[in-house]
Amino acid sequence: MDLLTLKAEARKKLAGYCRVCPICNGKSCAGEVPGMGGIGTGSSFAENITALSSVKLNLTAIHDASTPDTATLVFGQYISTPIMAAPMVNSRMNTGGGLTEKELAEAITAGTHQAGSLTWLGDPIDTNYEWFNAMQAAGRGVVIVKPRVNHDHIIEAFVRAEQFGAVAVGIDVDGAGLITMKLRGQAVGPKTKQQIAELAKSTKLPFVVKGIMNVADAVKCAEAGAAGIVISNHGGRVLDYTCGTASVVPGVARELKGRIEIFVDGGVRSGVDALKMLALGADGVLVGRPLIIGAYGGGAAGVRYLFDKYTEELGSGMILTGCNTIKQIDSGILINS
Ligand SMILES: Cc1cc2nc3c(=O)[nH]c(=O)nc-3n(C[C@H](O)[C@H](O)[C@H](O)COP(=O)(O)O)c2cc1C
Repeated sequence: MDLLTLKAEARKKLAGYCRVCPICNGKSCAGEVPGMGGIGTGSSFAENITALSSVKLNLTAIHDASTPDTATLVFGQYISTPIMAAPMVNSRMNTGGGLTEKELAEAITAGTHQAGSLTWLGDPIDTNYEWFNAMQAAGRGVVIVKPRVNHDHIIEAFVRAEQFGAVAVGIDVDGAGLITMKLRGQAVGPKTKQQIAELAKSTKLPFVVKGIMNVADAVKCAEAGAAGIVISNHGGRVLDYTCGTASVVPGVARELKGRIEIFVDGGVRSGVDALKMLALGADGVLVGRPLIIGAYGGGAAGVRYLFDKYTEELGSGMILTGCNTIKQIDSGILINS
């Protein structure tokens, strides 16, 4: 497998949905939601890339950190890389349905597991048998349910997730404005701190809130009993003109590092991007769109190929910033930190 072949294959299979650009930055696909783009002008997707690219690393090779270990602990599980698969659903409307919901979830899950990492699984509009199968395939994964108004539906999904061996469950609270869900009789909405606390209590598993974009909301989640948060603007797909996620990480980390697990996604396109997010204060990162390209371009092997590439890049980035372990990565490796 090589990157050019993987991308050429994905370009054919995703025609009309994703151009598989040389740099996946949301420019060509601005406004394509449903689809693979960012909402409206595409500015929130593009900001994720801009914010991350403004973070600069301090190269140093005068040290003894020569054997980087990329393994880390997430929700009590050892994984071989802090780079994980973001939840991505509604294959038919977003990617053309060349892979069914289940096939896409299985390809991403299998490739992610082969690389020794964790899959995060989303909650499609038509929550159905196929989805529960995909959830089962994800096994040791994290299940993220839409912020449904009906908590019984959320809790039912959490119970299934527990049965299938999930290591954590949660909601993507930034899905609160999805009109499409309401039109299908599956209303979603924002959650109060009290409701977050109720959901956190409803499960034996660690509870995580995805879609946090400021310190105040992160603190509310921690106080409500969340074990983790994902700093995310949903890949720029829910609200136009947000800031880039990388710019939110340092403030949240200052307040909450060590108290809850802090994850981030949005525009991570390499192991070096992951290194920068960790240096800003994240405990782990999620990658989205590139893994859809990997799955369409090469199935599970394509996803695994990308994970191995990112983890290799992270390892050499660690050598060139003087870090032997994930825990050693901090803002000291950044310029102007
Ligand atoms: C096609 C597609 C579907 C998505 N579906 C979900 C979802 O069901 N639940 C969720 O929490 N996030 C969803 N997301 C957002 C991703 O989990 C993630 O936050 C985002 O894609 C990260 O940005 P990146 O694609 O630039 O890496 C989706 C993103 C895409 C592109």
